[in-house]
Amino acid sequence: MLSSLPKKIKIVEVGPRDGLQNEKTVLKTEDKIEFIAKLTEAGMVNIEATSFVRPEKIPQMGDANKLFELLVKRIPIDNYNFPCLVPNKIGLENAKKAGVREIAVFTATSDQFNMKNINASIDESFIRIEEVVKEALSYGMKVRGYVSTVFGCPYLGETSLLKMTEVTQRLFDLGAYEVSLGDTIGVGTPSQVLKVIDGLEKANIPLETVAMHFHDTRGMALANVLTSLELGITNFDCSAGGLGGCPYAKGAIGNLATEDLVYLCHSLGIETGIDLEKLMQASLFILDKLGRLSSSKFLIAKQGEKSGK
Ligand code: HMG
Ligand code: MG
Repeated sequence: MLSSLPKKIKIVEVGPRDGLQNEKTVLKTEDKIEFIAKLTEAGMVNIEATSFVRPEKIPQMGDANKLFELLVKRIPIDNYNFPCLVPNKIGLENAKKAGVREIAVFTATSDQFNMKNINASIDESFIRIEEVVKEALSYGMKVRGYVSTVFGCPYLGETSLLKMTEVTQRLFDLGAYEVSLGDTIGVGTPSQVLKVIDGLEKANIPLETVAMHFHDTRGMALANVLTSLELGITNFDCSAGGLGGCPYAKGAIGNLATEDLVYLCHSLGIETGIDLEKLMQASLFILDKLGRLSSSKFLIAKQGEKSGK
């Protein structure tokens, strides 16, 4: 018997950023805006819109300025949170100019991953993060934090729980309102989720301030969600249609699909605020632009039902 499940959860849709940053096809800005608009029509209120990173590194996000400026014109942003990933002060200033009100800063539990991802060790990343967060808070922006490689690192292998709680606490101390813990390469299992949550509790980090960011590389994402739900986590990142991965983590094939998360939650009587039918329309729209199939089991099943196969 499942015990102590929450009544509702908060979802952060990361498809337009974490999803699209790892797709080969670089989409037109207008198509990305349409995707985000369709996600809002499905009931999504927290959508990671883009990242203000070096375009040479992530060409898929090279239109961040244009995208955000157009987004603000199309959607009444007072009603939504559109966090954008920012790696440094250059990114922050660009984000501010474009009208961004919430940023996400990111680091990892592994120096090796951080060096590949952002050309900085964990400690070096905090020098950048500290100046970015200070400045962002002085602009009145909200700040979300990410910790990558919580469940394992493609370069280091096993990562340290102690490092995870230390890095997470540092992000909170700087002023992050929420920290998302990334299973960047999708190696996590329910028993690891248990250990991570135990580590958070021992470090007195309130579970309601933490989000889980699972990748479904080994098919464990939903099992990890269920374990997290039972242990008191109520915030989850996911991407429509299961888009994405991470360009610096080979084999990180995709985020947990939003459809699969929503289907699971609704079956357990947990509110998400999402209309699954409209969500599928958003996913099918963007998958069509990318010319690829979904990795969402729910979406594949629904399409099969509709086509009578
Ligand atoms: P760097 O090469 O060390 O930068 O990049 P630099 O400070 O040496 O500057 C080099 C040049 O880049 C300069 O231009 C800068 O102006 C320019 P130049 O003088 O040579 O003409 N530059 C920039 N241009 C535009 N926007 C910027 C910017 N910064 C510098 N923001 C940096 C360091 C981190 C910026 C770079 O390596 C970068 O952008 N990397 C991309 C990182 C990234 O997006 N990774 C994927 C996201 S993380 C993720 O997916 C994990 C997550 O989902 C959670 C999980 O699953 O675990 C969050
Ligand atoms: Mg990710």
